[in-house]
Order: sequence, then C-alpha cells, then structure tokens
Amino acid sequence: MRHLMSPLDFSVEELDQLLNLAQDIEKNPAKYAHACDGKKLATLFYEPSTRTRLSHEAAMLNLGGNVMGFSSADSSSASKGESVSDTIRMISCYADICAMRHPKEGAPMVACQHSSIPIINAGDGGHQHPTQTLTDLLTIRNVKGRLDNMTIGLCGDLKFGRTVHSLIHALVRYSGIRFVLISPEELRLPDYMRQDVLDKKDIPYKEVVRLEDAMPELDILYMTRVQKERFFNEEDYVRMKDFYILDKKKMGLARKDMYVLHPLPRVNEISVEVDDDPRAAYFRQAQYGVYVRMALILTLLDIHVD
Ligand code: CP
Repeated sequence: MRHLMSPLDFSVEELDQLLNLAQDIEKNPAKYAHACDGKKLATLFYEPSTRTRLSHEAAMLNLGGNVMGFSSADSSSASKGESVSDTIRMISCYADICAMRHPKEGAPMVACQHSSIPIINAGDGGHQHPTQTLTDLLTIRNVKGRLDNMTIGLCGDLKFGRTVHSLIHALVRYSGIRFVLISPEELRLPDYMRQDVLDKKDIPYKEVVRLEDAMPELDILYMTRVQKERFFNEEDYVRMKDFYILDKKKMGLARKDMYVLHPLPRVNEISVEVDDDPRAAYFRQAQYGVYVRMALILTLLDIHVD
C-alpha cells in the first residue's frame, strides 16, 4: 500500500507516468468514468479549503466513486478530543482512500502509520502540499512543454508557503533548474530549505526583494499569498500582505512566454487585470488539479484502465 506524504514519494519516472496518465484522462475522460465504481474517498479537512477538498471529491466522482468526509475539525469528533490516529482507524473501516489536511506538520504522516488505506497529504501546516505540486508540475509541463532547463521565480510568502516548499523539493530533481526567490526579508525561504535542499544539491538560486528586478529573466513566475493563518500577530500580516501586487505594468517586463502560476486562493497579490493575459495560467492550473488527482487516486488504488 502506498501513501502520498511528499512529492519525493514518487521517483521522477513515476511522476512522469502519473502526469502522462493525467494527460490521458484530460483527453479521454469517458474511458475513466467507471474506473472507481464502488470505491469511496474520505476527505478529512481539519483546516479550510476550497480547491484541494473539492478537486479531490470531483476527481473521485469523475472516476465513478463516492465521497464522504468533513470540512472542518469543528464538525468532527476532533472537537471532542479524538486523536488523528483513532480517527484514521475509523475511516479505514468506512473508505478505500483518504485525503487529509491538517494545520499540524506531520499529522498525515501519523495517520498513515495507523491506516489500512492509502492516505494523501492534502497540506500539513507550513510543511508540504504534494498534490498541489503534482498540479503545478502538470501545469508547467503543459504550458512550457518541459520540466527542465528553466528559471523559476517564487514570489511572496516563501517562509510559510507549503506549496513553495513542496515545489522546490520536486523541481530540484530536474536538470537545469534555477530559482529566483522573491520575498521580503521576513518571509525568506527558511534556512533548512536553502541549506538542506538548494545548497546541498548545488542548485543555482538568488534572492531578491523587488519583483520588477526578477521579471525579465523568468520562464515561470509562481505567485503566492501571504499565509495569514500562520502569522502570530495581525500587525505583521497587515504590514506584509500587499508587499507584492502583480499588475499589467509588471507583466510588461516579462518575456512573451513567461507563464504565471498561483496555487490560489489569491488575495491581492495578482491584480484581476492580469487574468485576461494569455500568460496567466492559474485558473487552468486549478482545472489540471482535478486530472492529476484522478491520476493519483488510480495510482494509489492500483487501478489500471486499458
Ligand atoms: N491551493 C489550495 O490548496 O487551495 P485551497 O486552500 O482552497 O485548497
């Protein structure tokens, strides 16, 4: 039995296969419409979500399966003090596969140690968000036609943004990847990511504060919101939240084939005037999230469709 805790749980070859499967699902949805008949997905979300929960549910429904779950800790027995390990023992009796989001780093890992069904980490604190990374990789591969030899700009809250941490882990396995880390001083990528991932693997990167300075050299710009829920005080959040606003003027500094991704939700960091730019890929990205989660469910359940 396999779980997905981190993008590194799949080899590069397995990731390629998964992305190929997602592309085939996009082209031939009818072929997969009954692949999960009789199967159930449980979505255990101890933290708010729109895309991740609903796209997992859409994925299972598109495969012919059913869904169950809760969308907040308050509406589950976690509010009475039940542990994650006890909850997952119960869920293993009710469902075939489970997607879990939790504010505590490592909670999905605890779940998989007590589970008899595959667990998908749907985001754990500021740590990892591997299914977002699968979505991001599929989007980059679709818009650029490759996952190697690129300069990737990561902009915004690089300290708390788990999507950024997961994406870096995944991209450093491809050749010719270079990062431009664009953040205010207080929201820099944590030392453990710079030293243990980038420096250790000799990945070229530079850190800049001004987005304008980075724009001309980027192949991909990955925007992120400032993670309000991870700040200890409101004052710091308010000071940081509008540090970056991508608008038409800044887009004018970028290459014609530089695409903008964002895991969403967006707050103010991308002006709505950018949405009509053909290089704005963030809504397409959300659609790819359904195909890639369909591919993931099939892979973890070891279901093959001819
Ligand atoms: N990208 C993402 O994780 O969005 P949600 O928080 O809405 O699931």
